[in-house]
Amino acid sequence: MSVIPVPRVAVVVVAAGSGTRLAGGAPKAFVGIDAHTILRHSLQRVFAAPVAQVVVVAPADRVGDALTDARSVAGDRVDLVSVVAGGASRQASVAAGLGAVWADVEIVLVHDAARALTPPEVFARVIAAVETSGSGVIPARPVVDTLKRVTDGRIVEAVDRSQLAAAQTPQGFPRAALDAAYAAAGADHTDDAALFAAAGHPLQVVDGDDLAFKITTPADLERARHLLGGGDGGAAHERARPQAPRVGVGTDVHAFGDGEHELRLAGLAWPGERALRGHSDGDAVAHAIVDAVLAAAGLGDIGTHFGTDRPEYAGADGTVFLRRVRELVGDAGFAVGNVSVQVQANRPRFAARRAEAEAVLSAALGAPVTVTATTTDGLGFTGRGAGVSATAVALVVPLSRG
Ligand code: CTP
Ligand code: MG
Repeated sequence: MSVIPVPRVAVVVVAAGSGTRLAGGAPKAFVGIDAHTILRHSLQRVFAAPVAQVVVVAPADRVGDALTDARSVAGDRVDLVSVVAGGASRQASVAAGLGAVWADVEIVLVHDAARALTPPEVFARVIAAVETSGSGVIPARPVVDTLKRVTDGRIVEAVDRSQLAAAQTPQGFPRAALDAAYAAAGADHTDDAALFAAAGHPLQVVDGDDLAFKITTPADLERARHLLGGGDGGAAHERARPQAPRVGVGTDVHAFGDGEHELRLAGLAWPGERALRGHSDGDAVAHAIVDAVLAAAGLGDIGTHFGTDRPEYAGADGTVFLRRVRELVGDAGFAVGNVSVQVQANRPRFAARRAEAEAVLSAALGAPVTVTATTTDGLGFTGRGAGVSATAVALVVPLSRG
């Protein structure tokens, strides 16, 4: 029999969110960072802290998966773990977790599973500060960016960042006061500290950690992957090496059609040339670029976003796709570095219009696009003049997130 410590500190790990911004194909906590999920990485660090109970709050249809992760991390301390189903908001999920905290627990920490790399020392600091102060405690980091208050795109005033801090989790509380604050909470609060403060309780701040960042976007997930791959525990690696750019490749082929329409290729109209067939305008050059950029950012491919199930894109101009891709990539935390695209076709002849094509494509994508063109010595379908093939390589760069 293992000796179970006196149950005094419980950690509620909220993992019931859907992860809309990450778009990782599963609820966020169940997306893999490496061989292990975000949840499992979080729990590894939770279990390395001096805790007596761990309550995982999971989406209702993922309770079994959460138990599997929790059991594999807990080892012989599996008795300390319970998993409950979450609610529609983070606050409802925390409330569900609090309902499963044992009666004799005195201090409760609430932690976002999405802060998967939070070091155990942060938990220890928060616990110690709740113990000595008897107040609520949040870990926070100084704000490094220069801040401005902006209204309608105009700077109204500079904000003094020395008075500001970025709140992280785990946030720790005396159990009885947190339970009472949750029971009394009417409105939705931004975090547990805000809800606790609204109930009139005092709060203090301890040092957070840069590794306690929240995985929100695909770029954040990349950052976590790099940190885990560093083999040095992370922090030094993070400071020494900027996040790597990423490449993607895309190819598209369209056959020439019966010539009812005018050819559109590389964002240009080509009067007098045979048109290509396709769900949209058949612009194989634009479509290859779309695939390359989406692949580089890990956002699926052209079918994911512009498939035949999206009638609004029927007949759409290729540059419409490029403008939308630019938005998707920006939302995911990347900027396009550049794109190189090569066209294989007998016709049309690009030499005279290369600069024009590059200008139109670059403007739509918001990044330099270069175009090269070649024939294939009479070989293959392009050599026979049956259609056009285009291949693109794209580079995207993770945007830094102060
Ligand atoms: N969370 C939760 N229950 C909810 C919403 C969020 O348990 N109904 C948890 C998430 O699982 C996450 C933490 O709260 O660990 C912080 O939320 P956030 O980062 O916003 O995660 P998601 O809501 O999953 O992501 P998104 O907002 O992009 O959909
Ligand atoms: Mg959310």
